[in-house]
Amino acid sequence: MMYAGVAKTNQPVRLDMRSDTVTQPTADMRQAMAGAAVGDDVYGDDPTVNALQDRVAQLLGKEAGLFVATGTQSNLCATLAHCQRGDEILVGDSYHIFRDEAGGAAVLGGVMMAPVPTTSSGTMRPEDIANTVKPDDAHCAMSRLLCLENTVAGNVQTVASINQLAATGHAHGLAVHLDGARLMNAVVKLNTSAAKVVENVDTVSLCLSKGLGTPAGAVLVGPADFIRRAHRIRKLVGGGMRQIGVLAAAGLYALDHHIDRLADDHDNALRLAEGLAQVASIHVNPDDVQTNMVFMQLPDGAADGLRNHLAERGILLGGGSKQIRLVTHLDVTQDDVALLVTEISDYFG
Ligand SMILES: Cc1ncc(COP(=O)(O)O)c(C=O)c1O
Repeated sequence: MMYAGVAKTNQPVRLDMRSDTVTQPTADMRQAMAGAAVGDDVYGDDPTVNALQDRVAQLLGKEAGLFVATGTQSNLCATLAHCQRGDEILVGDSYHIFRDEAGGAAVLGGVMMAPVPTTSSGTMRPEDIANTVKPDDAHCAMSRLLCLENTVAGNVQTVASINQLAATGHAHGLAVHLDGARLMNAVVKLNTSAAKVVENVDTVSLCLSKGLGTPAGAVLVGPADFIRRAHRIRKLVGGGMRQIGVLAAAGLYALDHHIDRLADDHDNALRLAEGLAQVASIHVNPDDVQTNMVFMQLPDGAADGLRNHLAERGILLGGGSKQIRLVTHLDVTQDDVALLVTEISDYFG
């Protein structure tokens, strides 16, 4: 097992709060997948993939889209399509591209990653970006790309903040990419259009298999020439897939049916935080909850005991020794939230 501190259980799973990636495709989504028209996507022949790519490009107000296997592959195709070997990307030091993608840009692209301090709300300060950009000096890697993220650990990055950071990047001659693994959570929370949120960034990765609830897939969007380069890189990293209209159909279904309902996940997360805030010995602040993530601070040494206790009852929590993240999603109901609050308060009570 290569996943530090994440609970497993031999019990039937009643409730899985580790991530919004754990959702099961619904019966209607499976039906849409089964009925999808497909073709060989390496030849560009899959009508459902083509429809999904066009649909996401339009949703995000960009020229073209590329369906890829995962969010990680999408960000990798993006960084490699933006950069050459010896270039550098600036990225928030808590962001997924920097911490959680196995160093792919460096390993496979010869691209250096320069971390920029991230604030508690998940943003970066323009002055920190400016200080991290390298001068035009033979000693330095060439700063080429600024990577943003939205949401960041459940925190919504506002349109004003994204625009300010994008303007900072552009003013320093950087292209700007946004990892929008959970972009639609931010869009629903901001009650605006997705295109507006990403208007001033050049390229965006949108995951379909987080809150949107598909079994796999992400779509990378941007200018047509960028997507042409990313398409070649997708092939290079072994991501040219064939009759994947079955997966793209799940994505189209999710765009039709699973965006507005993200508000339910946000409501459930708030309800959960309000319930847990009543439990003595742990600390949860409902004011910190913006979308579908709740962070629970635990007394020293309590995390493993709680995780194991709940796992024996078929409830899975994510890793962490002082803090555990709880994520609401398509398969978490209001009753599940009530159950979890009761179980945690009984454990500490
Ligand atoms: C912010 C963010 N970006 C990118 C990814 C990568 O997505 P995937 O797991 O599909 O590779 C994740 C996955 O959890 C994520 O949280």
